[in-house]
Order: sequence, then structure tokens, then C-alpha cells
Amino acid sequence: MSISVVILAAGQGTRMKSTKPKVLHEISGKPMLFHAIDAAKEISDDIVVVLYHQAERIQQMIESAYVGIRFHMQDARQFPGTGGAMKGVKTKHERTLILNGDMPLVTKTSLEALTAGDADINMSVITLDDPNGYGRVVIEEGKVKEIVEQKDCTPEQLKIQTVNAGIYAVNTALLERYIPLLDNNNAQKEYYLTDIIKMAVDEGRKVHPVYVEEEEFKGVNSKLDLAHAEEIMQRRIKEALMMQGVVMRLPDTIYIDCRATFEGECILENGVSIIGESRLVNAHIKTNSVVEDSYIEDSDIGPMGRIRPQSILKNTHIGNFVEVKKSTLTGVKAGHLAYIGDASVDEGSNIGAGVITCNYDGKNKYQTVIGKNVFVGSDTQLVAPVTIEDDVLIAAGSTVNKDVEKGALAISRTPLKTVKNFFYKFFGAPSCK
Ligand code: UD1
Ligand code: MG
Repeated sequence: MSISVVILAAGQGTRMKSTKPKVLHEISGKPMLFHAIDAAKEISDDIVVVLYHQAERIQQMIESAYVGIRFHMQDARQFPGTGGAMKGVKTKHERTLILNGDMPLVTKTSLEALTAGDADINMSVITLDDPNGYGRVVIEEGKVKEIVEQKDCTPEQLKIQTVNAGIYAVNTALLERYIPLLDNNNAQKEYYLTDIIKMAVDEGRKVHPVYVEEEEFKGVNSKLDLAHAEEIMQRRIKEALMMQGVVMRLPDTIYIDCRATFEGECILENGVSIIGESRLVNAHIKTNSVVEDSYIEDSDIGPMGRIRPQSILKNTHIGNFVEVKKSTLTGVKAGHLAYIGDASVDEGSNIGAGVITCNYDGKNKYQTVIGKNVFVGSDTQLVAPVTIEDDVLIAAGSTVNKDVEKGALAISRTPLKTVKNFFYKFFGAPSCK
């Protein structure tokens, strides 16, 4: 790994129209900057992130997720622009790859292509039908001459369809020599990193254009771009998982977080969302169910089931309209309409329709512990904290507010009263004779 990576993330991201820093907007569950860092980590052990706008917040986020990333604060007031961002950045290795923090779709393969060969500068270029907004790459007789930013282009140059994709692998010694020489004599009064291309060409250095895939190098600048990038990322995640053996019915309707992992034979039906760091092993998730930050093994969920964070389900059946939160269920059946929160339920137990663990008293959360082979009748409320030992039968409609011992029946019911002919007296129905 003899290459350093600098990720530019100091820009304001005005077009995102958000108080959240642009590079922290998420794609498939991960901030877009983290996608860039992950790609960088695959090829380098020396990564520097350049920050300015909301630097503290971004640095904190990065430090909570990664170790060993270095930071450089841009003096953006005095030296605005991508060239200004590189001022004072020191890298360890003899080559430096410069990436944009708002390009979450770049892959390791492309980065490797950009770092191959012996040119002094490898620069990424794309040919676009609509080059609007990009710096144009002036190429004469197959040789790169310079990059001209859109705002500085002559009408002739504006027609050039070969554009700068914004990633460069540069000989570090050259880079360190060129950066202090940049000026801001241009339409935007910014220090353009792109000017190093002309400097290198003028010195007779080897500048090599690397043609790259448009899809990977599209910068995310607006929420519209964010949605497009999300679609591409989702397609990649799902294609990889299907190749790995996950069955997906109507994959376009399914959402899967990039941190989710699958093992064995998993089936995801249409409309399923797998959110966060979920792990599924031989799981069948039926139509329109949501699984979030949970572990599901040898179990089926839904349709319309909701498994909230920190749940562990093994060998369990969860039916429609059942919500589970922060609970461990092993060998359990909960077929319909239930809320199981802050609970543990053991082997062979059945949770009837309409059962609710009352886990919250408005101030604190409490645990419900249900042992083996417990039959919890429909519409039971389990008022936590409460423990139900093994082999217990809870009659339908009971409010269980104290522990129940092994083998017992628990029943709480107001006796049923019937009043003869009350209906007819009350409604005076014509059928009343
Ligand atoms: C830049 C290129 C342009 C190229 C395009 C590709 C320059 C001068 N122009 O333009 O040729 O076609 O990318 O997407 O480089 N940043 C800083 N500090 C700053 C300004 C920007 O760190 O002062 C960072 C941004 O956070 C971003 C990256 O640099 O990650 C690119 O900045 P952006 O303003 O998007 O550059 P473009 O104008 O798109
Ligand atoms: Mg820009």
C-alpha cells in the first residue's frame, strides 16, 4: 500500500439545502463520506480527510467509526477551492490519490485503475452527453493539455464533452511543489487543484487520462443526486446478495442497508426493509416487514411484521402485525397482533393474538421474562417487571401483574353477566314480540 489518500470534504454543500453536512447524508445506511473512506481503506493505510465547514461534527462522526484517519483543516477563508483544500496537507507515501468526499459510489477497482502505471498524474475523465457543470479536459493529439473550469471556458471549450471526474493520483513530490504555486486568477477567485494539470504538462510531465464509469463518479450535490446514488447503491447491494444466494421477490421493492449480512438460505419477499446492522441466517421475511439492527436465525417474519433493534430471534415464527423490540425469542410462536418489548421468551411458548408486554410506566422500561412452554392467551397484558415460569397457562384476557410459578394457571377475569332480552328492550327492535 504505497499510496496515500486525501479526501476533500471541506465544501459547504449549499445545494444540499440542509443543516446536516453534505458528506454525512446517508446512502444505504452509511454517511456518504464513509463509503469514500471505506474505498480508500482498501488501497491505503494513510488517509487524510480535509475539513472546514462543520469540521468538528464530521471529525467526531469519523472518529466514532474509524481509527487512524488523519484530519487537515483547510484555511478556506484565505484559500478557498479544491487547491486551497490541499494547502499544507502532508502525505506519507510517494503517490497521493485525491478523492472527493461526495462520491460514494467509487469502487476499489476504479481506484486501483487510477493508481496503476507510472504516469506523474493519472486523472479521471468521463465523456458526457451533457458536460454541464464539470471542468472540461482539453486534449490535443491524444494528450491532456489542461482542465478548464466551466466558468472560465471559452464558447469553444464549453462544447468539450470530455470532463474532469475529479479524482487524481499524483506524484507526491510534484504535488507538494505545485500546490504553493496555485493562484486564484479565475472566474471564481478560488484556488483550483485542477491547475496542477497544466503545470505538469508545461514541465513535460506524463499526465495520463483514465476513462472511468460515469455512474461511479457522479458527485452527490443535491437531494435528487442523493436519491439517484441510493438507487445505484441499492441495486449493487441486492445484486451481490442475490449472487450470494439470497432469494428476493421483486427486488426493486426491497431496501437493504449496506451493513446487513446474510447467511444460508434467506428469502426476502416484496416490500421488505432490512435496516442497520442486521444479520439474517436462514430467515424468511415476508411481504412488507421491517427488520432493524436485529439477529434472525431459522425464523419467519410477517407479512407486515416489525422487528426493532436489539432483537434476537431463533427458530421463531412471527406473524402479521407483531412488533418485537429489544427481545430474545427462542422457539416461539407469535402469530398475530402483539407487542413484545424488553422481553425474553423461551422454547415452546405461544404468544396469542393481542398480547402486550406493558414494558413502560411512563418513566422507566421493565423486563418481561417468559419461560418454556408458556401459553399466553389472547389479549393478555403482561405488566412488567414480571416473570412467568415454565409450563404456565395464562387465560385469555388476563392482566398479569405478578409473577406466575411453574405449572400454574393464571386467570384474571370479571365474571360475565348476561341480561335476558336486554337488546330488544334497548333497541325496541320490531322483531321483539
Ligand atoms: C470540481 C473540479 C471540476 C470537476 C468536478 C468533478 C475543481 C476546481 N474543479 O468541481 O473540474 O469536473 O469537481 O466533480 O477542482 N472542497 C473542499 N474545499 C473547498 C472546495 C471544495 O474541500 O474549498 C471539496 C468539496 O467538499 C468536494 C470536492 O472538494 O468534496 C469538490 O468540490 P466541488 O465544489 O464539488 O467541485 P466542483 O465545482 O464540482
Ligand atoms: Mg462545486
